[in-house]
Amino acid sequence: MRAVIAGSGSEIPPKVVTNQMLSRIMDTSDAWIRERSGVETRYYVEPGTATSDLGAAAARRALEAAGVAPSEVDLVVFATMTPDHYFPGSGPLLQTKLGLGHGPCFDIRQQCVGFLYGLQLVDAHVRAGLARTALLVGAEVHSGFMPYSPANWEYLYGRADVPPTPAEHEWNSRFRHLTVLFGDAGAAVVLRAEEDGARGVVDQILCTDGADYDKLYVPGTGFKHRPYTDPGQFARGDHIPVMDGRYVFKLASTRMVEVAQQLMARNRVTVDDVALVLMHQANQRINEYCQKALGIPDEKVLHNIHKYGNTTAATIPLLWDEAVRAGRLRKDDLVLMVAFGAGMSWGATLVRA
Ligand code: ACO
Repeated sequence: MRAVIAGSGSEIPPKVVTNQMLSRIMDTSDAWIRERSGVETRYYVEPGTATSDLGAAAARRALEAAGVAPSEVDLVVFATMTPDHYFPGSGPLLQTKLGLGHGPCFDIRQQCVGFLYGLQLVDAHVRAGLARTALLVGAEVHSGFMPYSPANWEYLYGRADVPPTPAEHEWNSRFRHLTVLFGDAGAAVVLRAEEDGARGVVDQILCTDGADYDKLYVPGTGFKHRPYTDPGQFARGDHIPVMDGRYVFKLASTRMVEVAQQLMARNRVTVDDVALVLMHQANQRINEYCQKALGIPDEKVLHNIHKYGNTTAATIPLLWDEAVRAGRLRKDDLVLMVAFGAGMSWGATLVRA
């Protein structure tokens, strides 16, 4: 048995925010953001819309595309680093929003590699005969990490006339290397068990090295602290991720190339055999480096970071969904997926569509 992707769907929130708009509330510019990251716009939810809402909307579309009824789903894997609540995870919330049966729901926390780790979990369940129809969701509401005051959000959207105070402007600018990169989105795929054939998850290599965990992490609001959250942590900004951008950039570029090469060699495939390469969308420059190092022609690579920014667990299923809807992905096409993220975790997957 193998897990075959039978349908996909995605959900982009309604509020588009340009780089120019961000420069209203912090010291940044369209030129800097475009040049260093490739991001041009990102989308944010309004307060009250949670990760499980984006996931559920995407999952409904995926079920429809697959022609699968909610009652058939016997496994949910929800990949996110921005769950609705500290606990329970977003999987159970998605289950109830979609009216699914009482099958198991996993929440997994592998950040930008969450979708690839989720694929392995689903495929292993299918191969073991534990599941036949699974929903794999990657969704994020990163806007909750943004340090802006409610009044600053209103000014950003042009709905109020009061600009940030100098102290607010400085505070917003302190996190600018991180905040400008991320957007909100949800994407999902339905996977079905199929008798062994060419289609489905072909092979994967997943890796983690926790030694560098503090190069990209959230220092506060965790159970290392007693209490796990308090006003002091917020005053220091410890609830906002810390990222050593240059370090992560170098590591991501190296690891993504290595793991993609290992996976292709182990499966005796070359770039010529691959129809499409879907890379995690953290930085356009990282992906350009990987594309060159792997010798992948432009027509085999899809990008969406310029539109959505980094949507963490949603980037790869979002690319998949866009490829299907644009007619760029046909049945039996071999797809290479590659990702790197906090943990540090990274991996590569070969899937036959
Ligand atoms: N606008 C204007 N200037 C800025 C901004 C901004 N938004 N952000 C930083 N700068 C300034 C810095 O203050 C610095 O100024 P200085 O030279 O006067 O000190 C200068 O720009 C250079 O800053 P760097 O941080 O060194 O810039 P870099 O070229 O490394 O780009 C970036 C930063 C975009 C974050 C890049 O390092 C990167 O993309 N890193 C990898 C991110 C990644 O892959 N993350 C993993 C996935 S995310 C996940 O797993 C959750």
